[in-house]
Amino acid sequence: MNHFEYTDGELYAEEVALSRIAREVGTPFYCYSTATLKRHYTVFADALKAAGLDATICFACKANPNIAVIRTLANLGAGADVVSEGELRQALAAGVPAYRIVFSGVGKTRHELEFAVAKGIFQINVESEPELRLLSEVASARGVRMPISIRVNPDVDAGTHAKITTGKKENKFGIEWTRAREVYALANSLPGIEVVGVACHIGSQLTELDPFRDAFLRVRDLVAMLRADGIAISRLDMGGGLGVPYDSEIPPSPAAYAEVMASTLGDLGCRIVVEPGRLLVGNAGILVSRVVYVKEGATRTFLIVDAAMNDLMRPALYDAYHAIVPVHQARPGEGLVEVDVVGPVCESGDTFAKQRKLPPMRSGDLLAFGTAGAYGAAMSSTYNTRPLVPEVLVKDDAYAVVRARPSYEDMLALESLPDWL
Ligand code: LLP
Repeated sequence: MNHFEYTDGELYAEEVALSRIAREVGTPFYCYSTATLKRHYTVFADALKAAGLDATICFACKANPNIAVIRTLANLGAGADVVSEGELRQALAAGVPAYRIVFSGVGKTRHELEFAVAKGIFQINVESEPELRLLSEVASARGVRMPISIRVNPDVDAGTHAKITTGKKENKFGIEWTRAREVYALANSLPGIEVVGVACHIGSQLTELDPFRDAFLRVRDLVAMLRADGIAISRLDMGGGLGVPYDSEIPPSPAAYAEVMASTLGDLGCRIVVEPGRLLVGNAGILVSRVVYVKEGATRTFLIVDAAMNDLMRPALYDAYHAIVPVHQARPGEGLVEVDVVGPVCESGDTFAKQRKLPPMRSGDLLAFGTAGAYGAAMSSTYNTRPLVPEVLVKDDAYAVVRARPSYEDMLALESLPDWL
């Protein structure tokens, strides 16, 4: 459910007409809805609570690191899951308390570890032995022991797109399931490390519960083994991954997911951490774009829009489906036409949709890409020297630009010509 709806034939974000934002901010732009963010967070938090879980929700900032989005979720009680010093700084700038921040990622540098330790964050999810040793050194140098979980790779198939599955043994993530016990023993022997938990994340956009259940059961077995080895495990970080509807798929409900978690891990006496990204923000955001030209090709009609693959990479990268809707609804009696919706970038991959049915559109008309709140703006680039798209946050009848469109001067200012050229 989201708060992008038609009123009198025109698409609104809550009580703000998207055509008004388009006029005042220019296109393309990302638009997020506060009410939708709140709803998604509340439904998820309530489901965990109803299942009897003592859970901390750490929003996976990588899905949408805009500090106004993070702040909106933090105000509801969310913590943050970050994967770089940049995201850690964004979470702190958004007002997330350090004691609710988890740091994940396969390649944390010494500098990043030093920064995280200095900030006193909740925990670091360690992904390799070299990282474990380096972190111990860094924490010892500051005279502290850093709370950690080790990310284990449970070798389960998440059944999702190959580029976003992470829990199989051939993936680069985590410590191989079968070696976990020995790495925990090493961790337990290092002076700068305080072992507190187990972490696991098997992939993103999961639309079935079975892979979660399989992974949670493996974690459960591991906890028993570690406890038998005398290692105290008090936290379980089960990552993110619950899918959202982009098209007609029906992902498991938060309640069903929470039930699986409670039935597999609920009696272990551990504090549960979850790291949802897409679930919280995916359907809380859209990308609004304007038709530049309607071009009749040899075999099809192209809607050439002013957003491109650099602004929303998911279709080009994963063949992902995003709903596309006109900002002004078709007039009664107007039929649908089949069009290819493409951007202006010089690559055939810059195609948002092929043979999509839309009402007839003209140059200057606005359209919106749905479910663009997760991994949309976050993954954008300036390819073709296109300025990053601004981000707008709506609340009731008000909106604010929460990331401005850089000017060409801003973009050029980072480049320079050496004096020998
Ligand atoms: N925790 C960890 C350790 C992760 O690697 C991820 C996502 C999450 C949590 C959040 O997962 P979520 O709840 O959003 O599924 N760019 C891709 C998705 C990549 C996901 C990477 N890791 C896409 O656009 O589909």
